[in-house]
Amino acid sequence: QVFRLEDYRPSDYLIPRTHLTFRLDPIRTIVIADLTIERRAGVDPSAPLILDGDDLNLKRIELDGIEHTAHEATPERLVLKDLPETAQFQLTIETELEPDRNKALMGLYRSNGVYCTQCEPEGFRRISYFLDRPDILSVYHVRIEAPRAEAPLLLSNGNPVDSGELDNSRHFAEWHDPHPKPSYLFALVAGDLGCLRDSFTTMGGRKVDLGIYVEHGKERLAAYAMDALKRSMRWDEEVFGREYDLDVFNIVAVSDFNMGAMENKGLNIFNDKYVLADEATATDTDFANIEAIIAHEYFHNWTGNRITCRDWFQLCLKEGLTVFRDHEFSADQRSRGVKRIAEVRALKALQFPEDQGPLAHPVRPRRYREINNFYTATVYEKGSEVVRMLATILGRETFRAGMDLYFERHDGEACTIEDFLKVFEDVSGRDLSQFGLWYNQSGTPNLTIKPSYEAGTLTLEIEQSVPPTPSESRKRLMHIPLAFGLIGSDGRELQWSSAEGGTVDGGVIHVRKRSQKLRFHGVAERPVLSLNRGFSAPVTLAVEQRPEDLIFLARHDSDPFGRWQAFNTLLTEALIAAYRCVLGGKATVFEDSIARLAGSIAADDDLEPAYRALAITLPSEADIARDIGKDIDPDAVLVARKALVGFIAGANRDSFHALYQHLHDTGPFSPDAAAAGRRALRNVLLGYLARSNDGTDIATSHFTHATNMTDLIAGMGTLAHEHPGSPQARAALADFERRHADMPLAMDKWFQIQATVPGEHALETVRTLMRHPSFSIDNPNRVRSLMGSFSAGNQSGFHRADGAAYLFFAEALMDIDKRNPQLSARLATAFRSWRSLEPIRQEKARQALVSMVKMPGISVDLGDIAERSLA
Ligand code: ARG
Ligand code: ZN
Repeated sequence: QVFRLEDYRPSDYLIPRTHLTFRLDPIRTIVIADLTIERRAGVDPSAPLILDGDDLNLKRIELDGIEHTAHEATPERLVLKDLPETAQFQLTIETELEPDRNKALMGLYRSNGVYCTQCEPEGFRRISYFLDRPDILSVYHVRIEAPRAEAPLLLSNGNPVDSGELDNSRHFAEWHDPHPKPSYLFALVAGDLGCLRDSFTTMGGRKVDLGIYVEHGKERLAAYAMDALKRSMRWDEEVFGREYDLDVFNIVAVSDFNMGAMENKGLNIFNDKYVLADEATATDTDFANIEAIIAHEYFHNWTGNRITCRDWFQLCLKEGLTVFRDHEFSADQRSRGVKRIAEVRALKALQFPEDQGPLAHPVRPRRYREINNFYTATVYEKGSEVVRMLATILGRETFRAGMDLYFERHDGEACTIEDFLKVFEDVSGRDLSQFGLWYNQSGTPNLTIKPSYEAGTLTLEIEQSVPPTPSESRKRLMHIPLAFGLIGSDGRELQWSSAEGGTVDGGVIHVRKRSQKLRFHGVAERPVLSLNRGFSAPVTLAVEQRPEDLIFLARHDSDPFGRWQAFNTLLTEALIAAYRCVLGGKATVFEDSIARLAGSIAADDDLEPAYRALAITLPSEADIARDIGKDIDPDAVLVARKALVGFIAGANRDSFHALYQHLHDTGPFSPDAAAAGRRALRNVLLGYLARSNDGTDIATSHFTHATNMTDLIAGMGTLAHEHPGSPQARAALADFERRHADMPLAMDKWFQIQATVPGEHALETVRTLMRHPSFSIDNPNRVRSLMGSFSAGNQSGFHRADGAAYLFFAEALMDIDKRNPQLSARLATAFRSWRSLEPIRQEKARQALVSMVKMPGISVDLGDIAERSLA
């Protein structure tokens, strides 16, 4: 079944009040839903009420207190007829669930003995028959009953209102959430957990009790998350004027979770990977992710919960906007420039391949078979870029005014992208219809720019094109805000007296036509062009730029992103040239200037260490492959990249070594951005230094002396990747395993490092590790660490020429698919760029996809990904 945006129709019935009772039991949980149903004005009383279900076992139905037999019930649907003529009536539905058997991790399930729920997007229908769509807003009252010993803790949304004892050592708690919400925001947690408590007083003076619930004994590990939560709450008040609106805010960490976290009203549920951290168990990246995800889910309270989505086509309304908000938060908490570079790297690594392959879809899709497959980098990350462009076009103040109007006008509503754009049109008086194409048209636009300079006039010939994507062959022209600067030979910004042939304002060129000639008059000298500063638009750029201009920008651009981009472009060009040499059987050659530049950036104390670390990190094999674009041979990419690492390492050995020593931190551990930046730089240098003959010594010593997880992983990863199979690498892996065997999240890192060792061996390693006692096919974190990082993070290993890894992977996916279709579908996206491989691998990948499509009983989720990939 295909769902289409244009088929949206408001529901005939509403559910203003929802009263739920849960009698919890691992294999026989009773759910009683008492629903106040309201017929929408003007709807014929003979209209049936059709409720959604999924795998439900119906026990009883009552209408206004009397058993109702005029219904048709299947596990997927409940159709009620002969309804009362009155506008409102009470419907009672009893269902029975088996939380222990729920391995799909949707609806009500148990994770490590803790009952928990995941309802977004369509999980509530696995709990009770309901109008399970986001435009049905209801006030929830929830009663939970459970044995006290098994579940002393009983949580749901909203505020706690009652609790007490029952017979048979059972007890109950009742929760009331005064804010009407869609069913996807419902949550329940019951179990025996420890708690870290704190409180926050809002700007309006409301004292909010904060709780983070984790396994007993792990309370201490929630301290960083709690700190991030309080900073998020303050930031949203200061930057967006948004205040929290309940007496309690709870977060629960569970160990089996399909995604990162979930913004259920007043009761966020998290993958424990994004809550638990201390220096011994979490890397700096983990700390940064925790901060970002805690903020993200908290920010959803306004962008998602108070204002929600009319239907799932509008998913980006809450996700793109909330990602933008969490990006801004992290930029304010850390280094804005460094954060932006990291965002762009992630966007290019995750979203560009989506946009450029068979799974391309608009930020707001128009059709889907399975909405779970649209929780994508396009909806989230490109969605955030679209909001960022809006802020760039309108300017900070107007953007904020638009957001204020959005909250004021739409609080308590289920909205569309049109509603969102309209508030910005209203506050700015601008027509945003061309801009709105960013939501509706898929594909990464390309800009070609030819600069020329003569007698004080700089001319830019700008052309835009949007490539065809599946089911969108003809594209319309976009509004692309291109931030730029003109840089003089002394490194300073050049001015111009006037611009003609296009709109330029506040350092931004507004590209809106297919082609234009933009002239800047009164430019004192031939400038070096810094284009798409801050990555103001998610486009690809083809600019005629001399290598010496890129070198100049890499040293002098005042925009940190521009500086990074220039050096990255130089590195990419060098790597692609080397790749061609490898394919042609020739020796690779590199310009000395590249190594010199890497050396001087690394040592430049005027630059933040975190920036320097990012700058001298070479594009990944996947990055290189993406920029090559077609006919890719991953083995040649690997050889080319190794050659450049060796070249840079060889030219800078002594200075890198001195810097590596100098960066050694001896003070107490801090997870803050500055300390993390120093560790990042030192660990990138380690990677280079490990190339030399005594490489195993330095990496072994790094590993042995590590006092935090970041350095431990860097030491072990360097040994395993640079000297695979060496006694030192084996010893480090064995030592890590012994010390962390009872810490699943640490073992995930151990799995990941081994699964991403390049080359043919990786497949055997992954096969073996699947039998490791710490591995579990039912746990998404384990599966992603081992199989996800192998397929998405090991180009040469996964795409080995004989296709053996594809076959192995396809088989494993079919096994996972029987338990957890969301997980199998997500992993299958590793095939999304199969058409850009060289022909032999292409054919092997195609066969693996075909074998999945033919599998009897394949889930809608996996079938959808595999079929679209093949189309
Ligand atoms: N709304 C959550 C977030 O982005 C993601 C939940 C998605 N869950 C899913 N099963 N697709 O914060
Ligand atoms: Zn979100």
